[in-house]
Amino acid sequence: LVWLLLGHVASSNPVSVRSAERQSTNPFPSSFLFGTASSSYQFEGAYLSDGKGLNNWDVFTHTPGNIADGTTGDIAVDHYNRYLEDLDLMSYLGVNSYRFSISWARILPKGRFGVVNQAGIDHYNNLINGLLQRGIQPFVTLVHYVIPQELEDRYRAWLSPQIQEDFRYYAQVCFRSFGDRVKHWVTFNEPNVAAIRSYRSGISPPSRCSGSFGNCSHGDSETEPFIAAHNMILSHAAAVNLYRTKYQKEQGGSIGLVLNALWYEPISDSIEDQLAVERALAFFMNWFLDPAIFGRYPKEMRQILGSKLPEFSSYESRLLRRIGLDFIGINQYTSFYAKDCLFSSCEQGPGASKTEGLALRLEQKNGSYIGTPTGVDWIFVYPQGMENIVTYIKERYNNVPMYITENGKFLMELGFGQTQDLLNDVKRVDYMNSYLDALETAVGKGADVRGYFAWSLLDNFEWTAGYTRRFGLYQVEFPSLKRIPRLSATWYKNYIESFKVVE
Ligand code: NOJ
Repeated sequence: LVWLLLGHVASSNPVSVRSAERQSTNPFPSSFLFGTASSSYQFEGAYLSDGKGLNNWDVFTHTPGNIADGTTGDIAVDHYNRYLEDLDLMSYLGVNSYRFSISWARILPKGRFGVVNQAGIDHYNNLINGLLQRGIQPFVTLVHYVIPQELEDRYRAWLSPQIQEDFRYYAQVCFRSFGDRVKHWVTFNEPNVAAIRSYRSGISPPSRCSGSFGNCSHGDSETEPFIAAHNMILSHAAAVNLYRTKYQKEQGGSIGLVLNALWYEPISDSIEDQLAVERALAFFMNWFLDPAIFGRYPKEMRQILGSKLPEFSSYESRLLRRIGLDFIGINQYTSFYAKDCLFSSCEQGPGASKTEGLALRLEQKNGSYIGTPTGVDWIFVYPQGMENIVTYIKERYNNVPMYITENGKFLMELGFGQTQDLLNDVKRVDYMNSYLDALETAVGKGADVRGYFAWSLLDNFEWTAGYTRRFGLYQVEFPSLKRIPRLSATWYKNYIESFKVVE
């Protein structure tokens, strides 16, 4: 297994084009989207420009000690001002879609308590029109971790049901302003990660946690993640319901939800460890997907959490089931081992959770992810995890259309905190190649996957890790912000090219 985790690297010439062979065996449908992904806070910068309001991450990054290298997204990679240059990079790559998120505070600086900021609307109109002129479809996320600070200050944001009305209003402004051209909407990016980092470990704003989960002075790690998640799910439902009833028929688009989708292998063949895998999936991914599709939380969560888990009213449950999802977005990077801690004892290391009764490990004897997400190499190379998670979602959710909304790898060759250049990113090419092979296999076996987005077009602001984690197909040099293609950019271009049918 260690060999599987670490040793699976393709040895073929990374930029070799396999077009002849590909065109006859293309496993992907002709409408398949190949793209790159980004998010507003990580890319845009321009944090005070053109009437934008402050958001929760502006406040968080300006508080000393929160970000590993002491940086902020004030400038980020200046995508707000350089988007035309970046669109040209996408044209060069030959992608036909671009996944980005709208900055809520750019459009509604004070949420529903203030006016719509026309300059923000104009910016996204320009971006969307620029994409369409180049034959690139916008794939738009409404909330990628970041919300107006106003909502935090007024009513504690996700901890209050009031946010459902704010989110619905924001979604309406977006559907009305951009829905004539945007055909793929995502309500939330990784609400599972957001709920855990913001309310359990406290490493994201509003930094709430308690007990052994983190180092916060307020919050309740045992209950608040589930309250926040509940409000996220009901906010999601409010937006999807609005889209279905008022916009979808006329605009003809689709709407879905993106989860961080880790795969888990049991650390042994024991029934207990296999059940631990089920719990790991339930408490992370299915936590959101089950409500969004079946209108209820996974049974493992209901059994273990009891009254700590909020309940859906029968109206809410029926609504969720009726509106459902048009697609599931899968952010797939890596896989973990799961080990039972419910029926058997296991030492409670940083990767262990009493709530879920499991310990998650990257390797049998070494390292864990939860608790140390900024410091360690958390992306273990396990392409089989891509095939497995796609197949699992296909089976559990009746083959609802899927998109791989993120996949990628930061440059491990650069130690934590080092930001020197690295253009010859051979290991990332091997990673993408092997994960795409695994995706091809899943699609070949009937999974309805309709797109793949590489994270990311450019190096960018990696949350609490600041600029020390380099995910870009293009290297960004600081402070000049010059973009330079890495080997992976050329490789991805050739990969996409290899599927094009020659007329
Ligand atoms: C998923 C998140 O959506 C994105 O914001 C982040 O940069 C990548 N993972 C890499 O960690």
